Amino acid sequence: MALVAALRRLAHVKLRDYSPRMAAVTSSVWLTGQRSFTSRTQCLRSDNKVTVNFINRDGEKITVKGSPGDSLLDIVINEDLDFDGFGACEGTLACSTCHLIFDEDVYKNLGPVTDEEMDMLDLAYGLTDTSRLGCQICLTKSMEGMVARVPESVADIRQSKDGSS
Ligand code: FES
Repeated sequence: MALVAALRRLAHVKLRDYSPRMAAVTSSVWLTGQRSFTSRTQCLRSDNKVTVNFINRDGEKITVKGSPGDSLLDIVINEDLDFDGFGACEGTLACSTCHLIFDEDVYKNLGPVTDEEMDMLDLAYGLTDTSRLGCQICLTKSMEGMVARVPESVADIRQSKDGSS
């Protein structure tokens, strides 16, 4: 019975909760004597705001604030930033439309790239040596004042080559 309940819980967890780069914190709790557990993967969040500067496709600089633990995709959504096509798969590592380009010093501070993110990045238009996927980057205080450039065009690999979805 406990196994069935655990499987039902797992089936209702959103796919994005299992995104490897969202794994700033992974916690698992095993209840001894009962064959059930909970597992949750998410970014740590706090209330100390961090300033992020986005450079839009037209060169416009947009300065917003996010909470440590928010992904850059979270910030774009929360601040209702109008980056056409950005974050199409809602952070499930299935599109590469959240491609962002960073200065080298910022890029080095973003943490390692997972194989899954690298696979998606390979499909992004305008890939650079300092490209990352915004949905996979969790904001930290050390990123205060960072600049993230939105590439001139986006690629959503979920669309067919003729442009239809
Ligand atoms: S939003 Fe689709 S890969 Fe980041």
